[in-house]
Amino acid sequence: MAQKFCLSIMFVFSSVILSLQLHAQSVPNPYHYVSHKKIDCKHGAVVSAHPLASQVGVSVLKKGGNAVDAAIATQLALAVVYPGAGNLGGGGFMVACLSGGKKIALDYREKAPAAASKDMYLDAKGDAQPNLSQNGHLASGVPGTVAGIFAALKYCRLPFKKLIQPAIDLAEKGFVITAAEARSLNETQEDFKKYNTVMPVFVKGSAWKAGDTLIQKDLAKTLKMIRDSGAKGFYEGETARLIVEEMQRGKGIITYEDLKNYAAKERDPVVVNYKSDYTIVTMPLPSSGGVLLPQMMRMIEDQPIKSYGFQSVQSVHLMTEIERLAYADRAKYLGDKDFFKVPTKTLISYPYLYHRMESYKPNVAGKSEIIGAGSIPESEETTHLNACDSDGNAVSITTTLNGEYGSRTVVAGAGFLLNNEMDDFSIKPGVANMYGAIGGDANAIAPGKRMLSSMSPTIVLKDGKPYLILGTPGGTTIITSVFQTLVNILEFKMTVQDAVFKPKFHHQWQPDVIYVEKDFPQNVRTQLQQMGYTIQQREPIGRTEVIKISEEGNIEAVGDKRGDDSAEGY
Ligand code: GLY
Repeated sequence: MAQKFCLSIMFVFSSVILSLQLHAQSVPNPYHYVSHKKIDCKHGAVVSAHPLASQVGVSVLKKGGNAVDAAIATQLALAVVYPGAGNLGGGGFMVACLSGGKKIALDYREKAPAAASKDMYLDAKGDAQPNLSQNGHLASGVPGTVAGIFAALKYCRLPFKKLIQPAIDLAEKGFVITAAEARSLNETQEDFKKYNTVMPVFVKGSAWKAGDTLIQKDLAKTLKMIRDSGAKGFYEGETARLIVEEMQRGKGIITYEDLKNYAAKERDPVVVNYKSDYTIVTMPLPSSGGVLLPQMMRMIEDQPIKSYGFQSVQSVHLMTEIERLAYADRAKYLGDKDFFKVPTKTLISYPYLYHRMESYKPNVAGKSEIIGAGSIPESEETTHLNACDSDGNAVSITTTLNGEYGSRTVVAGAGFLLNNEMDDFSIKPGVANMYGAIGGDANAIAPGKRMLSSMSPTIVLKDGKPYLILGTPGGTTIITSVFQTLVNILEFKMTVQDAVFKPKFHHQWQPDVIYVEKDFPQNVRTQLQQMGYTIQQREPIGRTEVIKISEEGNIEAVGDKRGDDSAEGY
């Protein structure tokens, strides 16, 4: 007993000493931190789902790194401090606008393994088995995150070792967890036990509590391997062996060849003007946001939305009908364009969209069974971060494991969770995925194909300079959250904080329901129901992060109130 007491005193004492040392060096203190929802600053800012990750990003800026350095360091830190979505075993997208004018769209979305097939989640009777596409070893696509990080390095200024070291320290020495993290770890205990052959550090004999220290030695080892051997430290050698052995223990299908062959892709970003003032830069396919966000912004561009007022019945009705039309197209036309011919140009063209809007009737709710996709001749635990610097570089990254803690399978000995991104494919035409989204041939499974995503990291330029950097997690709600946040700021002229914090709503064609957050006004719900809409209250929608940069260079960074999200800057 006395020995235990002495050990506790020593631990507290060494934590205090370490805290003081860290404070003196102005690096994140993993044992004491708070979340800042809004920060105003001049030089640079980072906003992400976790205070420690945002602090890591800003410490990199202060050491002379640019926004890409900061974003990469933040992303790596999230893989440690936010295991539910931050990741090495998932994938993501990066959109960046560099000070010289270059616009970048980096695709490191997961891919279907070579042994994957169209009907792999159907049983003998041809019925879909979503449990297999959503949980455990068979649910994982080939991870892309580490390849994405290395593909971004050519835009970085600092040596990679400096970007990854904070993540290694956080994994090795541990950090205290928040109440939200404790809650979600506790809620996932049974799944962790069910979908792992070797129990991961997330499984604990007693309940997790806020303030507990999470140490991830295996993850630290993997991060060191990546630090020392580059992408090969993940896709080849020891880590690849651990992934393949994990697959073999759990009937998964990812092989050495799948890992070795994975490559991130730099694509042409989607660039569209909004009115005469703004240019929206966002992620192309396999992000469906690259089609749906331009569609929605173009359908609303000429509408008198501003005069309707924020969350008036008319504005919610108009935005819902626009969302319905866009998501109907998503289900029919969108998939990996490396595998399926997608008529993107037509889908975002003004004539097509004017034609689509002919179904919109003020005062009458549309019906998804009548309004299908347009005719053309011939997933919820993801995480978003933004970074900007004093040179005018802007970075927007959304990265994902798909569901919270992904497949819930940790690679034994390597300490990281694998994604359950295979569920973002259409596992059977017309069968809803975990976000209720349906799809068809365009998004059917094929070996090496990337599953359709909703992740929409976005940057809005004003007079050619970064004005807004934004994005959010939330599966299919991502695009509607980005859309609403843009409309809130560009049309309703809201403050960034209001634009992010005010209640959100979402419609995705099927199911034919407007989902609303708890605080969504009751009188507007009633009037929408009277118009014929079905309204359903749901959990919070997204965790939107926004950075706004004024013409004078003043930076306003806002982290969503819906989680531990935090904005840091200097
Ligand atoms: N897994 C969520 C998405 O990519 O849309």
